[in-house]
Amino acid sequence: MFFSLKKNEAFFVETLLFIIAHFCIFSSFLCLTLDSTLIWYLPNGDFEELPKPTNLKKTVLVGKHALPKWEINGFVEFIAGGPQPGGMFFPVSHGVHAIRLGNEASISQAITVKPGALYALTFGASRTCAQDEVLRVSVPPQSGDLPLQTLYDINGDTYAWGFRAKTNIVTVTFHNPGVQEDPACGPLIDAVAIKELYPPMPTRDNLVKNPGFEEGPHRLVNTTNGVLLPPRQEDLTSPLPGWIIESLKAVKFIDAKHFNVPYGHAAVELVAGRESAIAQILRTVPNKEYNLTFTIGDAKNGCHGSMRVEAFAGKDTVAVPFESKGKGGFKSASLKFKAIAARTRITFFSTFYHTKINDFGSLCGPVLDEVRVLSIRF
Ligand SMILES: *[C@@H]1O[C@H](CO)[C@@H](O)[C@H](O)[C@H]1NC(C)=O
Ligand SMILES: *[C@@H]1O[C@H](CO)[C@@H](O)[C@H](O)[C@H]1NC(C)=O
Repeated sequence: MFFSLKKNEAFFVETLLFIIAHFCIFSSFLCLTLDSTLIWYLPNGDFEELPKPTNLKKTVLVGKHALPKWEINGFVEFIAGGPQPGGMFFPVSHGVHAIRLGNEASISQAITVKPGALYALTFGASRTCAQDEVLRVSVPPQSGDLPLQTLYDINGDTYAWGFRAKTNIVTVTFHNPGVQEDPACGPLIDAVAIKELYPPMPTRDNLVKNPGFEEGPHRLVNTTNGVLLPPRQEDLTSPLPGWIIESLKAVKFIDAKHFNVPYGHAAVELVAGRESAIAQILRTVPNKEYNLTFTIGDAKNGCHGSMRVEAFAGKDTVAVPFESKGKGGFKSASLKFKAIAARTRITFFSTFYHTKINDFGSLCGPVLDEVRVLSIRF
């Protein structure tokens, strides 16, 4: 009941936004632009609006306002995807153009939002040189560093990052905090989209918020790779409402349109072995016993082999094996635990590392879905 109400509300809001967008396209550049598939890009978020030739020196943008709808600082390049002179390859999954941020360079844009609301930005981001590149995303007072050293997919990665709006106009900034020997080395940014999130609440039947990962960030058009949720995401501002992304590496948000997910429209894929965990803090009653149930499987994305998901709740733990044939199988598992405090953290990670059978450059792993926690009654 509660969920269906939420879904209706979300549908209503989307419809309303759809109508507003058609006015926006012709009026204010502060309004967000709309893609045919209901993906909201920031104005010139796909970087397909060409800079004036006078603002471009080869690939380098010259002048603070050289990039339409954005303000730039430092060495920023306007590039076209594909093979580059010098043997590099720039993956641009959306359209043709993207931005490369040189040493300490940034691009920013002010957008209109709803104060208090939670948003997820989705964008293409990849490192370009074989170096330890970091992308800093900020919407003051929030800011986060995305480590780009690991390339999860050789065709380019898509990330989501969440923020809670404090005012009705906020400034979104992408910044390369690094200093490399080659000033042109730096991350590639493409297709910046935004989505308002509706954080689900726990229900009487389940203490877990957003238990099936149904509420999450936008996916981008033409990216069949899912969306990476970067490490060190707090539950209050996570792009996957309710869930914390722990450790050093990302977790992948996948949808039923491009992957096999056990239930509903979305799930998460644990792509980075023990280096990445997904967790949630539940309200519990000390000394009470609970039953944690969850589903694991494979995304039907060529990820084969012996998999194992480890789950933790309070002081209890279980390791569940899953033999993946890469055909989209799944199974459920459970863990009985006793709460030792008023808050209990549940955590999941993959014991092993996996890569796709026909593509050793792409990380993959077991899928997690439909997490439930219920108290055990006597
Ligand atoms: C998506 O891919 C199709 C086919 O390759 C292409 O025609 C289309 O322009 C792409 N769309 C975007 C937004 O990149
Ligand atoms: C926990 O729930 C699962 C699935 O409903 C069930 O099979 C299992 O027996 C339950 N465990 C306990 C201890 O109640």
